[in-house]
Amino acid sequence: MEKKTSILEIIKSRRSTRRFKPDMVSDEDINAVLEAARWAPSGENFQPWKFIVIKNKQTMENILEYIPYKKYQKFIANAPVLIVVLGDSRKSRWWFLDCALAIQNLMLEAWARGLGTCFSAQYPTVPEAVEQNIKELLEIPKKWRIVTMTPLGYPIDPPERAFRLPAERKPLEKIVCYEKFSK
Ligand SMILES: Cc1cc2nc3c(=O)[nH]c(=O)nc-3n(C[C@H](O)[C@H](O)[C@H](O)COP(=O)(O)O)c2cc1C
Repeated sequence: MEKKTSILEIIKSRRSTRRFKPDMVSDEDINAVLEAARWAPSGENFQPWKFIVIKNKQTMENILEYIPYKKYQKFIANAPVLIVVLGDSRKSRWWFLDCALAIQNLMLEAWARGLGTCFSAQYPTVPEAVEQNIKELLEIPKKWRIVTMTPLGYPIDPPERAFRLPAERKPLEKIVCYEKFSK
């Protein structure tokens, strides 16, 4: 995949990636995507996030074993790297929003470097018992919640769509109004 330069080009071309080449991601690239996440804005600059970088395939498989929605999330064990994004639910009222911003930064920096990612819904849809199992496996303290896990790796083209969801977005005319709300 070609490297992109403009932010809008990176945003528009990024697609969720669920199939990956086996090639390992360099530590430089891993650090860069985490650096992008680190510089996300957060409410009161609390930065209520933490990232676990997993390269061990067995650990990925063990996590996948616990995932109830295997059909929709089997891709989490498909890449050479898995990043687990944790939010500190006690640190900030906005922890979930803050983490979402960090994750988007991470995904965009990855794409700009020719790397794919895919958000996997964890909190709040995954049952707490499942989250607890994964937390025990990864030795995650109680206050942290698993917001998402994203694989990180070089995409195999073409990107596989989730549940045949199209990549199109609603047109601006449908989502933007001026001066006051309008249909
Ligand atoms: C909160 C959230 C949860 C998601 N969970 C999943 C998931 O569990 N499995 C999956 O295949 N894709 C998941 N996705 C990816 C979306 O399906 C994808 O972003 C959407 O279809 C748009 O496609 P695109 O990312 O390729 O532009 C999730 C995305 C978000 C933002």
